[in-house]
Amino acid sequence: MEKRIVFATGNQDKMKEIRMILEDLGIPVYSMKEAGVNIEIVEDGTSFEENAEIKARAVSRVLKNDIVLADDSGLEIDYLDKAPGIYSARFAGEDTSYDVKNRIFLDRLEGVPEEERTARFVCAVAAVFPDGTAKTVRGTIEGRIAHEILGENGFGYDPIFYVPEYGCTTGEMSPELKNKLSHRGIALRAMRKILEEKYGKEAL
Ligand code: IMP
Repeated sequence: MEKRIVFATGNQDKMKEIRMILEDLGIPVYSMKEAGVNIEIVEDGTSFEENAEIKARAVSRVLKNDIVLADDSGLEIDYLDKAPGIYSARFAGEDTSYDVKNRIFLDRLEGVPEEERTARFVCAVAAVFPDGTAKTVRGTIEGRIAHEILGENGFGYDPIFYVPEYGCTTGEMSPELKNKLSHRGIALRAMRKILEEKYGKEAL
């Protein structure tokens, strides 16, 4: 049976980023939907790592022969005690637009000085292998909450996440640059290394 990676997400924006990074492994990467899995997963972990493994394990129970990956990610704003954190997607309601969510955070940080606007994107990626073992890695990117909504690239909180070294938000970056710097890029490359080491490039 052909080896494949199934990524436990239904988010098409994420799938684009994931494919760009994992494509040179030379094995096909399927989304959960493409693999025909349609299950509700309750993310009741207390950390990004726990939630990523919960998702990967849930899909691995259905697709026992596949390498199942999952990520859990979010934005930590230091001034707000690391909110929204693991609740980033659910913050203010799943169906609320990011334009509204982003404006809520801009309002909450109104008048807060530059040095207290520090924030980071965090991404944990978990892999569950056909033998039932699991591995989890974490990537982060440090930045600050911007003063306005800037840029139309990316998704979610990208237009308010300012990266001082580049003088722009991740919403203003090309997908290639964002992948190079981003929490998900860092975590996925760490996971790619684990996959290469576990299976060897040829074996994959
Ligand atoms: P997850 O799908 O449970 O990992 O939720 C991730 C949520 O965190 C997304 O819905 C966004 O709200 C936020 N987030 C994670 N990564 C990014 C990113 O790269 N850009 C913008 N927002 C992100």
